[in-house]
Amino acid sequence: MSRLRRMRLMSRAILRLGILGLALGSALALAACGWAGNVERPAVTVAGGDAELGRSAFATYGCISCHTIPGVDRADAHVGPPLTEWAKRGYIAGRLPNEPDNLIRWLRYPQEVDPGNAMPDLDVTESDARNMATYLYELD
Ligand code: HEC
Repeated sequence: MSRLRRMRLMSRAILRLGILGLALGSALALAACGWAGNVERPAVTVAGGDAELGRSAFATYGCISCHTIPGVDRADAHVGPPLTEWAKRGYIAGRLPNEPDNLIRWLRYPQEVDPGNAMPDLDVTESDARNMATYLYELD
């Protein structure tokens, strides 16, 4: 092998290593950002709720006749807004900041929060509301 060819091969190898290093570096940087993002904005959790019980409560209370709810059987109606990507919402029914206690309040007393709106009070118990809220905040 000529000296020139050996040098070319070597510089190509060094270039490849450099590119690999850059790729690795940015992957690490991205991972670090993702991690930092999670620390700044932790997922909303609802204390004491059970998402699986919540899932079945949507049918019991008839929520599914008005709302589309991902992962819930036959919940594909459009009378009310679809409850997709719930955790990303800023407001509940445009009235209350989207946080667990406010969601529980809305689910139990929508007519008190926003009199005359089309969602009826359904006599939802505190624990059922808590379970449904748990399910909604766990949606992607
Ligand atoms: C008769 C139809 C109807 C039923 C039954 C109903 N809703 Fe609603 N729901 C609505 C309407 C209409 C709105 C929009 C109210 C507003 O924005 O003022 C709404 C709003 C909501 C919101 C806020 C949505 C948003 O985008 O801010 C949630 C959460 C919700 N409903 C959950 C439920 C759950 C859980 C049940 C069952 C316990 C239920 N709803 C039962 C019609 C209904």
